[in-house]
Amino acid sequence: MKSYRANLGGGIDGIVMRDEAIPSPGPHQILVAVRAVSLNARELMILQGYYPLPVKPDLIPVSDGAGEVVAIGDGVTRVKIGDRIAASIFPRWIDGPFGWDYSAQLGGSLDGMLSEYALLPEDAAVQIPPHLSYEEAATLPCAAVTAWNALSGGVPLLPGQTVLTQGSGGVSLFALQLARLFGARVIATTSSDDKAQRLTALGADAVINYRTTPDWHACVREMTGGRGVDVIVEVGGAGTMEQSLKAVALSGQISQVGSLDKSAASIGIAALSATVTSIRRIAVGNRAQFLAMNSAIAMHGLRPVIDSVFAFEDAVEAFRYYARGEAFGKIVIRHD
Ligand SMILES: NC(=O)c1ccc[n+]([C@@H]2O[C@H](COP(=O)([O-])OP(=O)(O)OC[C@H]3O[C@@H](n4cnc5c(N)ncnc54)[C@H](OP(=O)(O)O)[C@@H]3O)[C@@H](O)[C@H]2O)c1
Repeated sequence: MKSYRANLGGGIDGIVMRDEAIPSPGPHQILVAVRAVSLNARELMILQGYYPLPVKPDLIPVSDGAGEVVAIGDGVTRVKIGDRIAASIFPRWIDGPFGWDYSAQLGGSLDGMLSEYALLPEDAAVQIPPHLSYEEAATLPCAAVTAWNALSGGVPLLPGQTVLTQGSGGVSLFALQLARLFGARVIATTSSDDKAQRLTALGADAVINYRTTPDWHACVREMTGGRGVDVIVEVGGAGTMEQSLKAVALSGQISQVGSLDKSAASIGIAALSATVTSIRRIAVGNRAQFLAMNSAIAMHGLRPVIDSVFAFEDAVEAFRYYARGEAFGKIVIRHD
C-alpha cells in the first residue's frame, strides 16, 4: 500500500510517500480501505512543530478519514466487512469526560489516515450517515465533533438561543450548521464581505466583518438587545477571548476551542471579572458524541461544506493549499 509519512516539525516538505506492506488485523482490530481524508489545523501544527499532545516519529499523518472495512480480526463485534465508517480521533475515549488515559490520537501519538489502508482498533469505528459520501464523511471526526461538543457538551444549547461563531474555518462552519439544527440563531464573524455572503447563504442570521468592525463585541451586544449571546464557539484564542467575554450573556458559555488569533498574549482580568460566564475548554469529543452527532446529521440531511478535493497522489499540494488559508470549507484528499 502507499502511505505518507511525516514528523513533528518536519514541515510540508518533509512529507514523503512510501510503499508499505498492508497490515493484517489482530484481535479487536479492523483494516479499513481509506477512501478519503480531510485536513485540520492540527495537521499544520504538527508539521510546524508546536502541537501540544505527543506525536510519534515517522507518523502516518492526518486524524480524519473515512473508508470501507475490508478485514476484521478475532473478536470484532462493532463492525463487519463492507461497513462504511469514519474513525474517532481518540479511539480509546468512548464516553464521559476527557482524561489523559484516553488521549492517544490518530495522526498524533498513533498513525493516522493518510494511507491506502488504516489498521484501527474496532473502538475507533463510527458508522457514517448513509446520505454522505466518503469525502463528506471524512470531514466529520475533528471539526464537526468539536463543534458538536462546543454546542452540546456543556449546558446544552436550546432552541431560540443565540450562538456566536468566529471566522469560516472548519470548526466554525460546522458550528453554524449544527447550531441551526438545534434551532438557534447564529451570529458569525468573518474577515471579508464575500465570506459574509457565503455564511449568510449557509444559514447565519447576521454576520460581522471583524476587519472593518474590529470592536465586534459591541455589534454583537447591539444585535442581542444588550444581552449578549448564549454560547460562543471561541476559535480565536488570546486574540479574541477578551471580546468574547464582552459579547457573551452574563451567565452564558464560552467553548474555548482554538488559537487562530495570536494578536494578544493575554486577556484583561477586568473583562473576566465583569461576567459570570463559564469557559469550557474543548478537546474534540468522544465516540458517544460522534455517534449522537451523526444521528442528527442523518436526520436533518446536513451536508458538510467542502472547498476542494485533491487526489491522493497530490496530498502534499493539498497541504500547501490548506496552509495558504484561502479555503471556505474542508479540504479533502481522496483515493480514486
Ligand atoms: N480544542 C480542540 O479540540 C480543537 C479541535 C479542532 C480545532 N481546534 C483549533 O480550533 C481552531 C480552528 O480550527 P479549524 O480547523 O476550524 O481551522 P481552519 O479551518 O484552519 O480555520 C481557518 C479560518 O479561521 C478564520 N480565522 C483566522 N483568524 C481569525 C480570527 N482572528 N477571528 C476569527 N476567525 C479567524 C479564517 O476565517 P475568516 O477568513 O472567515 O475569518 C480562516 O479561514 C484552530 O486553532 C485549531 O487548532 C481545536
